[in-house]
Amino acid sequence: MGKALLEVDLLYSGRLDEIMALHPEAETVLDIGCGNGRNTKYFLNKGLDVYCIDVDLESLKMLIASEADRYTLMPLRCNANFPLPFRDKTFDIIIDSYLYTFIRDRMGYAGEVHRILDENGIFLLEFDMTPHIYTHEKLEKYLHPFICLFRIERKYRIYHEWGNVANEELRHVPAISLVMRPKLL
Ligand SMILES: C[S@@+](CC[C@H](N)C(=O)[O-])C[C@H]1O[C@@H](n2cnc3c(N)ncnc32)[C@H](O)[C@@H]1O
Repeated sequence: MGKALLEVDLLYSGRLDEIMALHPEAETVLDIGCGNGRNTKYFLNKGLDVYCIDVDLESLKMLIASEADRYTLMPLRCNANFPLPFRDKTFDIIIDSYLYTFIRDRMGYAGEVHRILDENGIFLLEFDMTPHIYTHEKLEKYLHPFICLFRIERKYRIYHEWGNVANEELRHVPAISLVMRPKLL
């Protein structure tokens, strides 16, 4: 039982293979709100330079401890409710897997992601909204900050287990997963 749960916790997002296929020459990734790093580790294993940020120091410490020998891991404690500390067009891929619900200034956040993403880059956004009971239709209303800045390439209505975003087998909580490309402004 404990082992099965552990394996589920380590599952990465089901869309990562897809975005790597869409951007095979990608070299730099940013994982915003990386948590325990289930997605960060996927990109490390693919040989990319992986920047990951989280406001929670304990999560970052656990990730650093588990990947201590990785010199391509660049972890940073950072609050994504403020401007992100990266230069324009830094990243080939940016992912936000279940951080978005914690963002207060959604327009400002969308602008920051757009600013630091390369113009040929890909942004993967996966989210539900606290209190985690919103329908897919209602969740889609939270996409408006991204619409004028990004072109939606793929959109999936997904579910995950209550309290465990890594397990998409159990259809407890509706969520949205989007693959986006930046519009040239
Ligand atoms: C639901 S977890 C998702 C973790 C990981 N992305 C995943 O998919 O497994 C949300 C993460 O966002 C982080 N977080 C919440 N608010 C944040 C903020 N303002 N800035 C940066 N990270 C934040 C939390 O500490 C937590 O690790």
